[in-house]
Amino acid sequence: MATGPGPWGSLAAVRTDALACTRCPLASTRTQVVFGAGDPDAGLMFVGEGPGADEDRRGEPFVGRAGQLLTRLIEGIGLTRDDVYIANVVKCRPPGNRDPQPQEIAECRPYLDAQLGFVAPRVVVTLGNFATKLLLDTKVGITRLRGQEHPYGDAVLVPTLHPAAVLRGGGVALAQTRADFVVAKRVLARGATS
Ligand code: URA
Repeated sequence: MATGPGPWGSLAAVRTDALACTRCPLASTRTQVVFGAGDPDAGLMFVGEGPGADEDRRGEPFVGRAGQLLTRLIEGIGLTRDDVYIANVVKCRPPGNRDPQPQEIAECRPYLDAQLGFVAPRVVVTLGNFATKLLLDTKVGITRLRGQEHPYGDAVLVPTLHPAAVLRGGGVALAQTRADFVVAKRVLARGATS
């Protein structure tokens, strides 16, 4: 697991570099880099896939329709967006909301690893397949991994469905995701590594 501060001395320094990043082709099509948002000392960190059109315009993660659902799910476990930290696998919008490509994910990975290292959350919730497969280094799909506690360094990682998939998936997907958030909250309250 590569999570750690890397060459940077602070989260602010990571952000400064990420905002000027030209490591991959997404730099030429983005409006702005969407680095991350929330409490840099949060115990709970969410990792999504990559910015969509709304995020690319506003420079903040999860502010579109999927983001509004994420906000409600966070509030459903008694927290606010300000209590948590939210980041993505890739910091720049893939054009037309296509999947991020392996090279883009690899080039962006040091920023995510540094965010995980500096925030050092007790609980990491991965939203959807891209974040889950990347951080757990697995090819197993989200439907089999979701809602379970996976050791992740000193933290516990709880995969859940991506909010955009929940919007498409209806009541069952929403109920599953709510249950996964309760698992994450329980681990957070326990405060221990399992
Ligand atoms: N979907 C994501 O994965 N991340 C965002 O920031 C917004 C939508």
